[in-house]
Amino acid sequence: MIIVLFGPPGSGKGTQAKLLAERYGVPHISTGDILRENIKNETELGLKAKTYMDKGELVPDDVLIGLIKDRLSQSDGASGFLLDGYPRTLPQAETLSKILSELGKSLDVVLNIDVPAEKLLNRLAGRRMCVCGASYHISFNKPKQAGICDLCGSKLYHRDDDKEEAIMNRLDVYKNQTQPLIDHYTQAGVMLTINGAADIVVVFNEICRMLDDFGHV
Ligand code: AP5
Ligand code: MG
Repeated sequence: MIIVLFGPPGSGKGTQAKLLAERYGVPHISTGDILRENIKNETELGLKAKTYMDKGELVPDDVLIGLIKDRLSQSDGASGFLLDGYPRTLPQAETLSKILSELGKSLDVVLNIDVPAEKLLNRLAGRRMCVCGASYHISFNKPKQAGICDLCGSKLYHRDDDKEEAIMNRLDVYKNQTQPLIDHYTQAGVMLTINGAADIVVVFNEICRMLDDFGHV
């Protein structure tokens, strides 16, 4: 089962990927999370990526390509994985298809999480993250104790690119560079669109139902 979680910033890719990874026992591979980990560890790759990410721009392909190839080749993905945030452009879709074919694999489903633009700003501005990878929302997905992670007790933080100016740029980048992939994957016959505007659990149950119907899990 190789699934791409697709959708605009704030649509719920990471939230749903975590739940799906638990349910189906496959790794959640998020390019955004891997890049943030590199920034935290001050790697050369992280330093290069940070200038783009803080502005809400896409990180150039030459920075990403080695990272994605390495990650997809690791043994934990032998029986499948959930790819969150990659691909985001047509050249990246072509790269992905090439990497998968070199590994003797192919993409099963692209889950397009569809959320009206007016909801996204609020979701992102209210998101709070934990260093352990958990993610919350100040209204829609509150931690038990405000500002503290339920899982590890660390203090939650606001992502640098969840400030209004960077959010607006990310939404533009999505519209201009990523949204065209919907046609690409629809034509390839692998696109499933989900209404992502409902509550987290409702969206999750709908995705599971669609995947079970699709017969790939
Ligand atoms: P990335 O980390 O992938 O960010 P993104 O695509 O902007 O998406 P987000 O993580 O912001 O949103 P999400 O869809 O995961 O939503 P979430 O589940 O958290 O990428 C960051 C940056 O890295 C990019 O801008 C770029 O610079 C770089 N990058 C990454 N991949 C790249 C690539 N392939 N090429 C080039 N550059 C790349 O949910 C959001 C909030 O809403 C949370 O608070 C959550 O609790 C809440 N929420 C979720 N679902 C619901 C719901 N159903 N109802 C109510 N609230 C909800
Ligand atoms: Mg995410």
